[in-house]
Amino acid sequence: METRVQNRKPDMPKVLFVASECAPYAKCGGLGDVVASLPKALRQRGVDARVAIPLYDSIDRAKYGLSEEPACLVPCGGGEVNGCGVWRGTNDGDVPVWFVEHNRYFARGGIYDDHGAEFGDNAFRFGLLCMAAAQVCRDRNWIPDVVHVHDWPTAVLPALLDAWRKAGTPLGRAASVLTIHNQGYQGYYHPSALAYLGLGPGYFTPDGLEAWGKINLLKGGINYADAVTTVSPTYAKEILAEPGGNGLSAYLQKRGADFEGILNGADYDVWNPENDRAIPAHYRAESLIGKTLCKRELQSQIGLAEDALAPLFGIVSRLAAQKGMGLMRETLPQALAETNLQLVALGSGDAADEAFFRGLAAAFPGRVGVEIGYSEELSHRIQAGSDFFLMPSLFEPCGLSQLYALRYGSLPVVHATGGLEDTVEQYNEGEGTGTGFKFYAPTAAAFRDAISWAVDTWRARPSHVTMMRERAMQVRFDWATSAQRYLEIYRRAMAKHGA
Ligand code: ADP
Ligand code: GLC
Repeated sequence: METRVQNRKPDMPKVLFVASECAPYAKCGGLGDVVASLPKALRQRGVDARVAIPLYDSIDRAKYGLSEEPACLVPCGGGEVNGCGVWRGTNDGDVPVWFVEHNRYFARGGIYDDHGAEFGDNAFRFGLLCMAAAQVCRDRNWIPDVVHVHDWPTAVLPALLDAWRKAGTPLGRAASVLTIHNQGYQGYYHPSALAYLGLGPGYFTPDGLEAWGKINLLKGGINYADAVTTVSPTYAKEILAEPGGNGLSAYLQKRGADFEGILNGADYDVWNPENDRAIPAHYRAESLIGKTLCKRELQSQIGLAEDALAPLFGIVSRLAAQKGMGLMRETLPQALAETNLQLVALGSGDAADEAFFRGLAAAFPGRVGVEIGYSEELSHRIQAGSDFFLMPSLFEPCGLSQLYALRYGSLPVVHATGGLEDTVEQYNEGEGTGTGFKFYAPTAAAFRDAISWAVDTWRARPSHVTMMRERAMQVRFDWATSAQRYLEIYRRAMAKHGA
């Protein structure tokens, strides 16, 4: 692995990402995409960015060509030492990834839970990941300038760095940056995990990790990280106040200029209708014949009538309340009954939502196609084959699916919240401009109106659909821009420690 750093520019920081997900190895949602593409974009700028994640049971070592490295001994609190295997791989041809192997904690089905039942020892599992990632760096004498952590699973690391700094250990030199991908999940656990992490009572305070007698890992990250970011400017504003802050807005406010929203990018090497290997035909903004073929193939694959005139709406989503499942349940049956729209949905999650979509497919044969599960390939085919893309999220920190939909000319119909507000441009009926259809109140009536608006536009103003598609396909949310912003934040964080 050490041989891979020759591209690093000497004035660029060394950055370690520590996270619970990284595509393609382990991904539940957009977090996995970001932990894959941001380090890649940083390396393209000469930053020596590396990643550490757990070696989950589901990660196929042979498929990804992982190789075993010397194991490490991780000192935990109370004199306990944990042995961890260490594996390494290279993501996307360039990004070094360390995998922490620990059978008791990571060799089980599921990343966070077992079919919805959250693992009770998550604070220990991800705590060990954080401590092991640090140990791997020490053992290899590769001391990062910045440790970049993501969401509650690794949000304890800034507090650990604080403790190590006070103890004078080498890792304590690293600055820390926390990115909040979802303020709705905070990691509330019994305080017994603190002893395991080696964090003394000084960390169990309201200005530290304590909340309502428990530990709140995300809160700890907000309080101890040198800089805190979230994934869109609008979501940053939303979580600075309640109820968006889910009880933590006051702590974010205290961070002042150390907190900001940076829009995620999309990885257009992976999401590009001009060369995507998962889709049956390629197309570009100036020539959309391939998209027509993708639609027909999708209709046939998923059991819909092969009707070019019916507007096809796509959904690719975790099935969770956040994603507006309540609005979908209230709205979709009626929208299907009142218009000629077709619907294709791919997702998994909440059992009741899965049942709802199965029921919808049974009630509207030939008009609704549903696949319950997870499929990268089908997700690409839905983006390419659908005319519109539904994201009525109650809140959406950034959202990547709508960025992919835009690139594939599938016009998003979205609730104007968080990153959806920042990335979708409202349709202007007078001029035929815009890239999607936004509704502003999270109500079934508003969502239904937005769907009707899209269907009407499809039927009565097809030239506007074509113009919007072209516009949507040309908009870019590049990682290069956001990577530059992160670099500035890394430098500011490092400056706090005299670097
Ligand atoms: P979130 O991270 O909140 O789930 P995002 O829009 O940021 O929302 O990212 C979702 C990511 O997960 C996208 O890459 C999307 O394609 C993918 N995804 C979600 N559900 C599925 C599924 N059932 N099959 C394949 N990909 C999925
Ligand atoms: C979270 C958010 C989503 C965001 C993703 C990546 O899962 O729900 O909006 O795009 O993280 O930052």
